[in-house]
Amino acid sequence: MTLKEKYAPFFRIGAAVNTRTVDTRAGILKAHFNSLTCENDTKPEGVTRDGVSYDFTRGDKIVNFAREHGMAFRLHTLAWHQATPEAMYGGRTREAAITMMESHFSKMAAKYGDAYAVDVVNEALDDSEGKFLRDTPLKAIIGDDYVDVAYTLARKYFPGNALVYNDYLECDPVKSKKIFELIHGMKRRGVPVDVFGFQSHYNIYSPEPDAVRRAFELYSKLGVRFQVTELDASLFAYGDASSLPAPAQELLQRQAGYYRGLFAVYREYAELIDSVTFWGVADPDSWLNNFPVKGRHDWPLPFDGDGNAKSCAESILDF
Ligand code: XIL
Repeated sequence: MTLKEKYAPFFRIGAAVNTRTVDTRAGILKAHFNSLTCENDTKPEGVTRDGVSYDFTRGDKIVNFAREHGMAFRLHTLAWHQATPEAMYGGRTREAAITMMESHFSKMAAKYGDAYAVDVVNEALDDSEGKFLRDTPLKAIIGDDYVDVAYTLARKYFPGNALVYNDYLECDPVKSKKIFELIHGMKRRGVPVDVFGFQSHYNIYSPEPDAVRRAFELYSKLGVRFQVTELDASLFAYGDASSLPAPAQELLQRQAGYYRGLFAVYREYAELIDSVTFWGVADPDSWLNNFPVKGRHDWPLPFDGDGNAKSCAESILDF
C-alpha cells in the first residue's frame, strides 16, 4: 500500500516540490501523494520581481501537474518576510502597501483559486520570549494590524478556500502560547482564519510525539482545523552543527521510531487534520541539505535518493 492509500481514511498526504523534483520524483508523487505544495515557486518572489509584472511559468508547471493527476494543492504563501521583492512594499505608505497586497492576492487567486488551502501570512510571530509580532517590513509599513488586514483581504479573493496561519516551533512552550493568542485574537475580532498550519520542521529527538500531542490539544480549543504543512525530521538535534558522511543505521532506526510515534498522534487527531505534507520527497532534494548548515547532508524525508521507501516510510505505513 502507498502512503496516500493507507491514509485515505485519515487525511491527505502531501509533498513540497520544485520545478525539478516534480519531474525527477513524478513516479513517487503519483503513487504516494495526493496533495502538492510549491516549495518556492508561488512565494511572492517566485512569481514577480516588483508586484506589477508577473511570471507564473514555474508555479504553473507544478500546479498543472497536480491538476492533471487529480491531486489537491496548497498555495504557499501570500505574505512572508522572506522571499518578497523589496520593490513590492518598500517605501510605500500604509494605503499603498495595502493596495499592493490586494493586487497581489487578486492575481494569485485568479491563477490558483482552486487551491484547497492558502497560507496567507507565514511566520508572523517572533520566536523570543518578550516579543509578540516579528518585526517585518509589512508590520513596519502597515502597522500591527497587518495580519488582520491580510486575512480580511484574502477572504475577499479566496472566498471558499481554507485560510491558513502557518508557523514553526509550534510545539515550543513560548511560541505555542503566542500562536494560540494570535489565532484566538483573530477569531475574537472576526478575522477569517480557518486553519493552523503546523510547519513541523522537527528532528529525531525533538519535539517528542507527546509534545506534539499537547500542541494539538492546546490548538484544538481554537475552533480551527489543522494542516501539517512542512514536515521533516532531521537526523541532527537543534544546534548540532556536526556532519555525517552517511546516515548511521541506528539514526535511521530512531527516525523510523520517531515518525511512527508522530503519525500515531496524527491519526488520533485525524478528524481535525486535512493533510500532512512533507517538505520534499527524497532526502537529496531536502532544503535541510543547506539549512541550518550550508552543504551538510541530512536525511529527513521518507524516500532515499534512489526513490526507495526508507524504514521511516515503512513505519508510517505499519499500523
Ligand atoms: C524554504 C525552501 O525549502 C528553500 O528551498 C528556500 O531556499 C527557503 O525556503 N518555512 C517555510 C518555507 O515556510 O517556505 C521554507 O522553505 C522553509 C521554512
